[in-house]
Amino acid sequence: MKILVCENYDKLSEKAAQLIMSQITLKSNSVLGLATGSTPIGMYKKLVEMYENKMIDFSDVITFNLDEYQNLPIDNDQSYHYFMDENLFNYINVKRENIHIPNGMAKDIKKECIEYDESIRKIGGIDIQVLGIGNNAHIGFNEPTVNFEKKTYVVELQESTRIANARFFNSLDDVPKNAITMGIGSIFKSKKIMLLAAGENKAKAIYDTVYGKVTPEVPASILQLHDDVIVILDKEAARLLNPVDYSVV
Ligand code: GLP
Repeated sequence: MKILVCENYDKLSEKAAQLIMSQITLKSNSVLGLATGSTPIGMYKKLVEMYENKMIDFSDVITFNLDEYQNLPIDNDQSYHYFMDENLFNYINVKRENIHIPNGMAKDIKKECIEYDESIRKIGGIDIQVLGIGNNAHIGFNEPTVNFEKKTYVVELQESTRIANARFFNSLDDVPKNAITMGIGSIFKSKKIMLLAAGENKAKAIYDTVYGKVTPEVPASILQLHDDVIVILDKEAARLLNPVDYSVV
């Protein structure tokens, strides 16, 4: 696990966007695994700027998002479909047919899960997966639990996650109770993983992810076992880490 600590959120976003740009420069038809949440928004803004400055071409890029709420129509402004359009896809030249986001409205949700993993497999796997992290160390919507889920599945959201995400909805009651998410196994198969975290409220989750026991109780701790993980933090999220374990950039 390589850990970079940036002066502030803006630098973190810049660094993350540069890594995505390098990936696409090296392989124009890269398969990107994308995340939602507030953390990657700065990175998406930088990617849009890079695209506008003709530094990146997304025309051959393929994307797979981590997760989506269940039973939230895609035109709801809190759906992750809507989020991705508003923060990235509407402003770059990615082809619509190359965008994949789990369909939380699917009638046959089990089939949707199986097909989602199958689409990732057919394309040859994810080249770089972007991850945020929940306060409880969830990744995608893999909540702390008793076993690592191998495949894309439907998860019941923990109350703490619903409360954390309620800030984007009118009320807690509006936050869906379930989501469809790539499983830990689906995420782990990605060739590279880039985990982003900013702010003091992520410091404990980052500490447990980096130093803790590898356990499904701390879903992100599995990343300790992956060969190619880069963690990009701001100073606040890195507060509990030993400075010998990271580089300041
Ligand atoms: C949601 C998403 C996660 C994200 C997390 C943290 O639960 N499903 O992918 O990492 O929120 O969000 P934020 O970056 O807003 O703290």
